[in-house]
Amino acid sequence: MSGSPSLLDELGTLEKEALAAVEAASTPGELEAARITFLGRKEGRISGILRRLGEMDPAERPRVGARANEVKKALQEALDRREEALATGRGTPGAEGPDLTLPGRAAWIGGVHPVTRVIDDLVEIFRELGFTRARGPEAETEWYNFEALNTPLDHPAADEQDTLYLKGGHLLRSHTSPVQVRVLEQYEPPIRILAPGMVYRRDTFDATHTPAFAQLEGLVVDEGVTFVDLKATLAEFARRYWGPDTKIRFRPSFFPFTEPSAEVDVKGGDGEWLEIMGAGMVDPAVLEAAGLDAERYTGFAFGMGPGRIGLLRHRIPDLRLFLENDVRFLSRFARP
Ligand code: PHE
Repeated sequence: MSGSPSLLDELGTLEKEALAAVEAASTPGELEAARITFLGRKEGRISGILRRLGEMDPAERPRVGARANEVKKALQEALDRREEALATGRGTPGAEGPDLTLPGRAAWIGGVHPVTRVIDDLVEIFRELGFTRARGPEAETEWYNFEALNTPLDHPAADEQDTLYLKGGHLLRSHTSPVQVRVLEQYEPPIRILAPGMVYRRDTFDATHTPAFAQLEGLVVDEGVTFVDLKATLAEFARRYWGPDTKIRFRPSFFPFTEPSAEVDVKGGDGEWLEIMGAGMVDPAVLEAAGLDAERYTGFAFGMGPGRIGLLRHRIPDLRLFLENDVRFLSRFARP
């Protein structure tokens, strides 16, 4: 009786050790060494135990023999599995190569904001037409934002309702048109500039209005510039941006700083008319406010909202999406 529990215990311990050795084998050579150590006919440790069956109570021998066969079988199965795993490259962690069946992990790619993308595309088209980029401050004086643009401070457009005032006589510019005056003061004609930038109004925050939004201002001033140049330039721009079949239409309008003034609509081959900008011939009062001879020079100006153009282009239902900084939305516009 005395021998059997200890031989059964030894078999149990041996089984654990053997299975661990098989799992730890990371080459066919190591696996073969483990096989010989445990299952080897002469020197193998299971054979060693079976050789000691003779020390045992004959009644207990069958139990130990059966257990030894179980251990042999489990070990042989483990060896086969491990051999297969090593052959197909699915070995222990660290010993294995990359798993080529896993989906790739794409690198995070930053992107230009969709409104900035629209601005860049528009500026690029106008660059081809001879325009350069200009810019002015977002904190403006009433002079540049209104008065120099032929807009008296008691004009409805200058009404405090629309405008965000800062301390010290400044306000957040309500449009990019003040850049017209700053450029006219600084440079001699011929002038052909585009001024993109943010503008601010005390507007409601809804699907089609945001209190901060981008505008793109255009200004051309030279000797002999006429309404024909305005129409031809904007028609050419529209065809380059929306496609060769695009039509444009001018509807009479009013801006204090242009005379005559128009709202400009575009229509693609299939679609409906879309209002995309205000435009007009620069009012002589603006040229004079900037110190230019209005007898000698004429010009045209236009102003559009790249955010609105982006909405139309991508069929986005709500302007606020552009301002929420939600990468799930923004990443859809990322171009590598
Ligand atoms: N500044 C005008 C606006 O914000 C747009 C405009 C610009 C109109 C230039 C005519 C000429 O609505």
